[in-house]
Formats: sequence, structure tokens, C-alpha cells
Amino acid sequence: MNEMNEEISVTCRINGEDVALHGDPAGSTVSVLRARGLFGVRETCGLGVCGTCTVLLNGEPVSSCILPMYALDGGTIRTVEGAASGDTLSALQQQFIESQAFQCSFCTPGFLASAQALLDQTEGELTREQVESGLQGHLCRCGSYEAISEAVRICSRNRGCAADASTGCPAS
Ligand code: FES
Ligand code: FES
Repeated sequence: MNEMNEEISVTCRINGEDVALHGDPAGSTVSVLRARGLFGVRETCGLGVCGTCTVLLNGEPVSSCILPMYALDGGTIRTVEGAASGDTLSALQQQFIESQAFQCSFCTPGFLASAQALLDQTEGELTREQVESGLQGHLCRCGSYEAISEAVRICSRNRGCAADASTGCPAS
């Protein structure tokens, strides 16, 4: 690499693991994550307009295709691989399955990231409009929007009881 584009090292936390990354500071985060085997992070447009590559950086959804690697320094990244707890899916992941909120599933990790951030940053049952606003910028070529919206709204309705099944969640 030339002097203007020297490799750098950054440290960050990815899915709960402290890691040191080395490479082109302008290299895309999606490339960095996929090089680490995190293939749930997917790239389509590469322009920041489709939402497919969305991951959480410090709890906020970001388009990893346009996020340069240097921006990860000191950050906490969560991909779809980090959402589950061992073999136990997150409540949102489980609800996507139960609501059949995908067909080919290529867009699903990105939707899950933004939907989880929406749930984390709100309280109570979300309206259709709130979900649509929170997920704007995500495209699904299979047209699963209705089922995705339903999954997120059900999750918002049931939040608070998912961690303790003994309390019993409202019927969906
Ligand atoms: S691949 Fe990143 S927004 Fe489309
Ligand atoms: S489920 Fe196929 S692109 Fe969304």
C-alpha cells in the first residue's frame, strides 16, 4: 500500500469478542466482517440504499457497505450471528420464523438488525407506522414487508415476557 493508504489497526468488539483488525482504513466493514466468517452480513447495492448489509454499531443500525473500517475503532458491533444466545434464538428471530417473515431470507439479517434496534429503543406495543418508519430504507425483493411488520409488532406486544416464559406472553 502507498503512503496515502497505509494499513491501520483498530480494536473493537464483535459479537461479544474483543478483536484487533488490520487493513485498509477505507476498506468496507462488510468486507471485514465477511472475512471473519460472518456471512450473515450480506452486500447487495454497496451504496447504502438497500439495507441488506445493516449491522448494529454501538446499538445503532449502520450500512456496513459504506462504513469504513477505521470507524470501527473502539466500537461494539453486533451482527445477526451475535443476536442468538448459543442455540437459543432471540425473541425477534423466533418471531420472524413464526410469522414467516422471509422467503429467500437474503434481506433478513439487515431487517433483524434495524428491528432489534427499534425494539431496544422503544417501549410498549409499536404501531404499524412506527415499524414502517423504523425499517425504512430496507428493501425486500420477495415482498415480505407485511409479515416482517407483523413479526416486529408481535414482538413489541410480547416484550417483557419473553425472558420469563412463566409469566405467559399474550397470545399472538
Ligand atoms: S448493500 Fe449496503 S445498503 Fe445495500
Ligand atoms: S425475503 Fe427475499 S429479499 Fe427479503
